[in-house]
Amino acid sequence: MKTILDSIKTIAVSVDALIQEGDLGYSTQHNATGDTQLKMDVAADHVIEEALSALAHVRAIISEEKEDVLILDPQAPYTICYDPLDGSSIVDANFTVGAIFGIYEGEPSGASLITAAYVLFGRHIEMVSVERGNPPVRKRFVHGRWHPMDQAFMLNDKGKHNAPGGTQQYWPAYHKAFIDSLFAEGYRLRYSGGMVPDLHHLLVKGGGIFSYPATTDVPNGKLRQLFEVLPFALIFEAAGGQAIDHHGQRLLELAPKHHHDTTPCFFGSNYEINALKKAYGIAE
Ligand code: F6P
Repeated sequence: MKTILDSIKTIAVSVDALIQEGDLGYSTQHNATGDTQLKMDVAADHVIEEALSALAHVRAIISEEKEDVLILDPQAPYTICYDPLDGSSIVDANFTVGAIFGIYEGEPSGASLITAAYVLFGRHIEMVSVERGNPPVRKRFVHGRWHPMDQAFMLNDKGKHNAPGGTQQYWPAYHKAFIDSLFAEGYRLRYSGGMVPDLHHLLVKGGGIFSYPATTDVPNGKLRQLFEVLPFALIFEAAGGQAIDHHGQRLLELAPKHHHDTTPCFFGSNYEINALKKAYGIAE
């Protein structure tokens, strides 16, 4: 596992260099959802594929940017699912974007996710990783080296920030009422449109809630289970928070039927997630 995490550190530096180059042009390729890919998406995917393909013990890699699974060694134990450049729609605005990795042992699902990591391409490159059963580890790349950061991610019972995803016009009424009730309680809006910086912000500030509900335009949510949702679910639970779907089920109990399956998802500290369960009528 150390080798995989070390490889992600090297990948982080290479992908950051691509972002710094700043080629915002479109490629001629499309991803699994049919979106035209940026040249940067394709280049980041290529860098990651090349680095992960060189590792031992990797059965397969599955990229958010690719339709198909790439089998490397059918006898090996790990499948790595990754989103090479999450939030590429805001990269042209010079916003912070990220990359997300889930390392699964066996068939990828919430139960088989053993390690998760994300990289933040901000003012500094930062990497947060968690091995199941352990607290999250945060590192920052400064002056050409990775430095461990002291600040542990442990969420308080209640936070101050609300990150509501999706198009309001398409939210169910009970979701709108819940989001409004948080603002009426004094929560502050923090939403950049990038899952990595938005969830990282909640982790750094010690709590709050990020929501991406089922909406009339995307009834199964927008965010992908294997590449985006499950890795963050492992990190939020390890930080003492909760990560659930719209039925109140732990996201880590989900098992996608297809590797591009999405799900509505909610990540946060206990107070806000418990309030959401009441508002949705799914409290135990
Ligand atoms: O996965 C795509 C993504 O850009 C996430 O990074 C982000 O959280 C979400 O979509 C934003 O979606 P919306 O603009 O619908 O809130």
